[in-house]
Amino acid sequence: MSDDSPNTDIITLTRHVIQEQYRLGDAATGDLTLLLNAIETTSKFIATNVRKARLINLIGLAGETNVQGEEQKKLDVLSNDIMVNALRASGRTAVLVSEELDEAIIVEDRYKGKYCVVFDPLDGSSNIDAGVNIGTIFGIYKIKTDSKGTLSDVLRPGSEMVAAGYTMYGSSCNLVLSTGSGVNGYTLDTSLGEFILTHPGIQIPSRGKIYSMNEGNAMYFYPPVTAYLESIKFPKSGKPYSARYIGSMVADVHRTLLYGGIFGYPDDKKSKSGKLRILYEAFPMSFLTEQAGGVATTGTQRILDIVPQGIHDRCPVFLGSKDDVNDVIRFYKEVP
Ligand code: AHG
Ligand code: MN
Ligand code: MN
Ligand code: MN
Repeated sequence: MSDDSPNTDIITLTRHVIQEQYRLGDAATGDLTLLLNAIETTSKFIATNVRKARLINLIGLAGETNVQGEEQKKLDVLSNDIMVNALRASGRTAVLVSEELDEAIIVEDRYKGKYCVVFDPLDGSSNIDAGVNIGTIFGIYKIKTDSKGTLSDVLRPGSEMVAAGYTMYGSSCNLVLSTGSGVNGYTLDTSLGEFILTHPGIQIPSRGKIYSMNEGNAMYFYPPVTAYLESIKFPKSGKPYSARYIGSMVADVHRTLLYGGIFGYPDDKKSKSGKLRILYEAFPMSFLTEQAGGVATTGTQRILDIVPQGIHDRCPVFLGSKDDVNDVIRFYKEVP
């Protein structure tokens, strides 16, 4: 057949994950495959609700506040419920942590499995009503040997995650996943109802031309961040960086993985630990970034080395192209 004939051997997410498991020699149980399948289904379910939101009265506030003091949107709550129901029923989880739930869920014995899932059911909620890209972020730990699943199974460094990923609900629906050996991207074919491998082996360029930060907070920034921003906006080379900031971490990180550059949400004089949550925002995105050959730091520490003390703890985040993020680290060392 000629090169432009239709592909008759498409690689779906499930097929790809099974292949990976064989390669890693962990095909014995298939538990992780089943868990990822459950997550994939939740992404499809959330995606259809996001697309219909305006039509089925899913826009706007739910009327409650979450533990971080944020007003929950209807889609935040719906996405959370979709994920909790599916993950519990998968029979593969022991502990669930969600941005929208004050406490971790310890899964009852009858459904208990050996994985813990930490997730941001709907990321970028301020963008929902404007129809701008939003997403779901997840990270997966395996419970420790002999554990039945407790908080200590998730209050661990991000480097101990066995998988992490996100789904972006945008002009297309993309699921990006790492099970610890590189990063792959899949695009939802809505007619098939399957995620198809479209971005195998994502690698972040070693240097980019884009920076992505909410500079509306500039008056609160600390000197290293201000000095770094000056260096890319008024560079000696005469070629300043472009600014792109969507305000949905999923979308900003997705662009950073594909195009390179740097995404940042620093700590500042107002937000003592930054804004992004360690377990279900910073860790999964840092895991993906490192797996794609990039760097993820707080400015002074590798993010994946942090040991979170609480499930909703926050940390400063800079992630993206190796050379760009290393520049930030240098500014933190050199600028008092
Ligand atoms: P969430 O919608 O899950 O609460 O997350 C919002 C986060 C993240 O998506 C984004 O990077 C950041 O908040 C944007 O914050 P600002 O509006 O302060 O820029
Ligand atoms: Mn929120
Ligand atoms: Mn979020
Ligand atoms: Mn959220």
